[in-house]
Amino acid sequence: MASGEGLEDIVAGKSAISTIDGKRGVLTYRGISIHDLADHSTFEETVYLLWYGRLPKAVELRNFCEQAWAEVRLPKDVVAQLHSLPDDANPMSLLRTGVSLLGLSDPEEGGSNAPEQPAPGVNLIGQLGPEAPGFGPNHPNSKKAVRLLGQMAALVAAIQRLQKHQDLVAPRPGKSIAYNFLLMLTGKEPDEEATRIFDTCLILHADHEFNASTFTARVAAGTLSDLHSAIVAAVCALKGPLHGGANTAVMKMLMEVQDPARAQDWVKDALDKKKKIMGFGHRMYKGEDPRATHLRKMSESLCAKVGRPDLYELSKNIETAMFALKQIKPNVDFYSASVYYSLGIDPELYTPIFAMSRVSGWIAHVLEQLANNRLIRPVADYVGRQDVPYAPLAQR
Ligand code: ACO
Repeated sequence: MASGEGLEDIVAGKSAISTIDGKRGVLTYRGISIHDLADHSTFEETVYLLWYGRLPKAVELRNFCEQAWAEVRLPKDVVAQLHSLPDDANPMSLLRTGVSLLGLSDPEEGGSNAPEQPAPGVNLIGQLGPEAPGFGPNHPNSKKAVRLLGQMAALVAAIQRLQKHQDLVAPRPGKSIAYNFLLMLTGKEPDEEATRIFDTCLILHADHEFNASTFTARVAAGTLSDLHSAIVAAVCALKGPLHGGANTAVMKMLMEVQDPARAQDWVKDALDKKKKIMGFGHRMYKGEDPRATHLRKMSESLCAKVGRPDLYELSKNIETAMFALKQIKPNVDFYSASVYYSLGIDPELYTPIFAMSRVSGWIAHVLEQLANNRLIRPVADYVGRQDVPYAPLAQR
């Protein structure tokens, strides 16, 4: 492959938010292992960590949760506009439009993007060295950030319910984003295990260094465009099947293969036809994706719990065949599919769910970009024709 293609191995900027060691299968958020966060943290605490640069103290976490949970709802005008959209559209296209509508209705729309002077103790991204951009609590972007975090969960649930011609469900005050998302999606109170598993999925998807959608958000933010525009741009990039769209494609594949005993032949046939197997491979990880380690375990226990152990067995057989034939391991999207399916979530919603988690990382990166902004503008290796004379229309 020509050097620089796909920007592989190109360092495109500094970041103190998350880092990946693809050889050792390590992912950290603000220096803390994803394994520790998955085992011990909550999504809200993880978002605080990403935005403020450190884990919150008890009172800080309580205040942050109160703020974020109060935003798990949609403005009435946005709901009315969502009703007018085609209900058979791709949910990611509806999400893209939904985030854009949220931007238009945001009270801070049009507010300044310029960082405030750092004020000790009040920065959005904390005081810890280079990641402190000086966004005070009254900065328009601080308010937009918390609002958008909560609204994304309400929006994803609303998209599904509107598509199914169901009434929207109100959130329960004082409950987590994971709990209220599942409640607002299904209309039923989720049990503790489902809530914890879904919360862990949100933690695992929250950030991943300069991936395609995050980089897209940073490019948009680097022009000093507004926060919602950067998030819309990121949603557009996440939609593609080589990025976030792979989790929906994985479920379609599992439904197509169906029988665990067919996995080996199916994978071989697909590889012989030079097809990409969705949910496998990663630009950064050549060994185990540490997020897949957790999702695999969750898939095993959840599939058994809902009486679909065959779905886990099928996934495992595809993983085994893929490694035997191509030495490629699953990425974050592979086992997410059977986990979400076992939670009763429709496959079309898997990528929007990815976005409702990843919005936390996108926001962290937009704020980090703005804190020390320089327009992102690479150069192309020009391979086109040179010195071509302009031919008048009549002579072409
Ligand atoms: N199935 C079959 N072969 C694969 C796969 C796959 N899923 N992934 C990589 N390969 C092969 C390629 O065919 C290529 O083989 P070759 O050298 O014999 O031609 C080699 O591995 C390198 O693959 P690239 O596509 O060049 O690797 P790149 O780093 O550009 O792509 C990507 C990474 C896009 C994730 C790729 O692995 C892929 O398309 N996977 C399937 C889609 C997917 O699961 N995407 C989600 C990624 S995670 C995320 O974004 C949240």
